[in-house]
Amino acid sequence: MIEDSNSAIYGIIGNPLAHSLSPVMHNAAFEALEVDAVYKLFPLKEEELDGFFKDLKDPSSPIFGLNVTVPYKEKVMPFLDALSPFAAKVGAVNTIVIDDKRKLTGHNTDGPGFLCHLQELGVDITDKRIAVLGAGGSARAILTSLCLLPERPESIRIYNRTAQKVEDLIVELGGRMNVDILQAVNVIEDLNIELCDILINTTTVGMQPTDPMLIDHNLLHKDMLVYDIIYNPAKTLLLKEAQTIGANTTNGLGMLFYQGVLALQHWANQEIDVGVKILMRDKLEEESYGH
Ligand code: ATR
Repeated sequence: MIEDSNSAIYGIIGNPLAHSLSPVMHNAAFEALEVDAVYKLFPLKEEELDGFFKDLKDPSSPIFGLNVTVPYKEKVMPFLDALSPFAAKVGAVNTIVIDDKRKLTGHNTDGPGFLCHLQELGVDITDKRIAVLGAGGSARAILTSLCLLPERPESIRIYNRTAQKVEDLIVELGGRMNVDILQAVNVIEDLNIELCDILINTTTVGMQPTDPMLIDHNLLHKDMLVYDIIYNPAKTLLLKEAQTIGANTTNGLGMLFYQGVLALQHWANQEIDVGVKILMRDKLEEESYGH
């Protein structure tokens, strides 16, 4: 799609953004839907957020929808006029809808996106022992989704570099839902990875080629699923080690796809045609795996 002065603008705010595959996916969808819209990267420093959100309120702004990624999924909330019930439960936003009165509504499609991908993989979480690395915006969405499901995992142990954030998160989520299955661990060894069925990495560790493993690879075992929500690189060190051991693995491309489809549906305010969804998935896989 060629951008002109009438084009509606959509995009993603975050920092860093060089890794993002969202433009490829959404621009393919806009083209297939034959809408005059372009999806752009908005790499913002934290001190630029205030001005950016002020400009969004301008009636002449061409921006009608945004995604939000690291590290702003929680930080954007004070700038919004309304939250969907699910985003309010999560306490983090990855999708913003801007209506023609410039009202900003925050949604969270990360949680449902994660669950849709688990369903696609045929993963049943009932009675499973789950270990989670991280307590940021993505972890909030995943933990909220898992706590709200009628199928209950046996336990979800959570470790974060900043341990207090996990304690605070469990208390906060506990005010809005049943969090009996959540357990904070202060040292990574207490995640009991050697006993868990599913390990989910929600941290940014693994995005850089020089990043170390957060966990001891000897704890990985072949009867587990290792889910790394990072999708670029397609195979983090964690996933490589897990594959070597014979574990099931997945990266975050499926979650990215489903959260993107759901975001697009919020912006379009309608269900997206299956043909367009297939095109979005193909574009992502082409960009990520070269086929
Ligand atoms: P997102 O919105 O994508 O979840 P985020 O809210 O910035 O991003 O969260 C990033 C997560 O990665 C956090 O859990 C963060 O840990 P802290 O809460 O201690 O900051 C984690 N993280 C980032 N860099 C890390 C590192 N070098 N080692 C361990 N954890 C790290």
